[in-house]
Amino acid sequence: MCGIVAYIGQREAYPIILKGLKRLEYRGYDSAGVALLNGSLRVYKKKGKVAALEESLVGKAVHAHAGIGHTRWATHGEPSDRNAHPHLSASGKLAMIHNGIIENYAQLKSDLQKKGYEFKSDTDTEVLLNFIEDIHINNGGNLEEAIRIALRRVVGAYVIVVLDQDHPDTLIAARKGSPLVIGVGKDEHFLASDASPIIEYTKEVVYVNDYELAILKPDELVLKNLGNDKLTPFIQKLDLELAAIEKGGYDSFMLKEIFEQPHTIYDCLRGRLDATAGTITMSGVQSCMQYLKEANRILIIACGTSWHAGLVAEYIIEELCRIPVEVEYASEFRYRNPIINKGDIIIAVSQSGETADTLVAIEKAKEQGAIIFGILNVVGSSIARASHAGAYTHAGPEIGVASTKAFTAQLVVLTMVALKLSNERGTIDQKRYLHLLNELQQIPDKVATVLQQNEHISALAEKYKDARDFLYLGRGYNFPIALEGALKLKEISYIHAEGYPAAEMKHGPIALVDEKLPVVFVATRDSYHEKIVSNIQEIKARKGKVVAVISEGDDVIEGMADDVIKVPEADEIVAPLLSVIPLQLLSYHIGMAKDLDVDKPRNLAKSVTVE
Ligand code: F6R
Repeated sequence: MCGIVAYIGQREAYPIILKGLKRLEYRGYDSAGVALLNGSLRVYKKKGKVAALEESLVGKAVHAHAGIGHTRWATHGEPSDRNAHPHLSASGKLAMIHNGIIENYAQLKSDLQKKGYEFKSDTDTEVLLNFIEDIHINNGGNLEEAIRIALRRVVGAYVIVVLDQDHPDTLIAARKGSPLVIGVGKDEHFLASDASPIIEYTKEVVYVNDYELAILKPDELVLKNLGNDKLTPFIQKLDLELAAIEKGGYDSFMLKEIFEQPHTIYDCLRGRLDATAGTITMSGVQSCMQYLKEANRILIIACGTSWHAGLVAEYIIEELCRIPVEVEYASEFRYRNPIINKGDIIIAVSQSGETADTLVAIEKAKEQGAIIFGILNVVGSSIARASHAGAYTHAGPEIGVASTKAFTAQLVVLTMVALKLSNERGTIDQKRYLHLLNELQQIPDKVATVLQQNEHISALAEKYKDARDFLYLGRGYNFPIALEGALKLKEISYIHAEGYPAAEMKHGPIALVDEKLPVVFVATRDSYHEKIVSNIQEIKARKGKVVAVISEGDDVIEGMADDVIKVPEADEIVAPLLSVIPLQLLSYHIGMAKDLDVDKPRNLAKSVTVE
């Protein structure tokens, strides 16, 4: 969380940093700030979104060729001007931005206070900066060395970038546990949390690794480890177009990303699934097929929406591959003393590839000898690099904070992995295998059909937008989709929503049902159909309002529900890829009807790089 951008070179730094911060705002938007160096350091910061900072800077002196910028997701200290980054050191000569958490900041702070340091903010960042300054003053003024010494004493995660008034031609950055990319231009360098602020200027990038320090001048990039050994920077070419990170005519990234799904799913299948030949080609899966085939157990580790994708996969893998699957919240798994046996495979699912809990959880499993298979969207991300093998989802940059297209792409990859594995293990008969390949291939067109119901779903949103609570129910493959629908609604509309297995509602949640409660049933035609029909009747008997996502031609549920959203008929294994789309649209439209910022819901950030 938190977005950082920095520039050093011949151009004006401020416009580059400002534009970059807007692109990184999905990582946090509690406050924003810049430090610009032109003879002296000028720091401007403001509570709220980047636009508020921009407005406050109209007419101010922003000329500089070196600068750092930050958009914050608050951890230590409430969102406020004073807690916004960049922070200045006690002498006023160093400015720093930070993404991450310094866990031992309290001890460091009290040590510094004993030495007379005073703090203007409540942040751990200001503590780290003054800790660096204190070492710097006492070590004869070698800032690089001071940073190295300080970071060796720090517990926690960080990306920091430091600007020194006395060395206007140098930026120093370091990373542990949070992402950092360097853009390499001609006589200029860029730094950012991801490549989106950089691609407009250069496609040559270096991904900084943990425990590395980058010393940047306009015409020089030096990479070192914390032991002061020089490293050779590995310059990669970015495969990302500017259009992919812009709204392209939509009113929000969320809507754009929902509507991109026919393409993103197609891109995810392309070159991998060939229904005519009956093949699935996935080199990452092939490279660890022997382990997968012989797996005693598969553990899927993820958070949030990615965890929901894992839950659908649990049903699919157990059904098709006959391997036991457990789906774990990374945040719980990492702090337990989990039992990992020989023959266990870990599948880590993450859009960003930077989620701190997932990253630490897989590192822990790796230490115990597990094989890690990553299903990730962001190429080169930390989890991608920590995995032994994997498959990318190819959904393109997801900028809306609520995950939509990444989720369906994760499901597609997980389904392909399950199909390929079941075929290799001989746990699926050929007819069903070919049928499912065909079903998967038809999904992009079917998703496009579901999207045609956008207007209808918008009308439903208007009808139900004032409800105080929602219940989402589903069974089998659609149970995780009920969870996902509820999560989407909570995030985007701030309406309380709960997802539940439809049959489980009798054990408690049914007490919530009255004539004011909308109950969304995810009830496409599958082997649980009759059962879910009974569950709908149970809600209707208690005067609940039923909105049902059903398969086309399902007159039974259509006759019972208050409102229906129809999706094309599909095999139950791939049906979640269709039934989730109306739920994404419903939460989008309710959020819009309530005049909320659907791309940047309050308190959230896209990439959760703190635990
Ligand atoms: C919800 C959402 C989050 C993420 C979760 C994991 O819409 O986006 O719940 O799914 O923070 O993030 P990744 O997939 O990046 O590990």
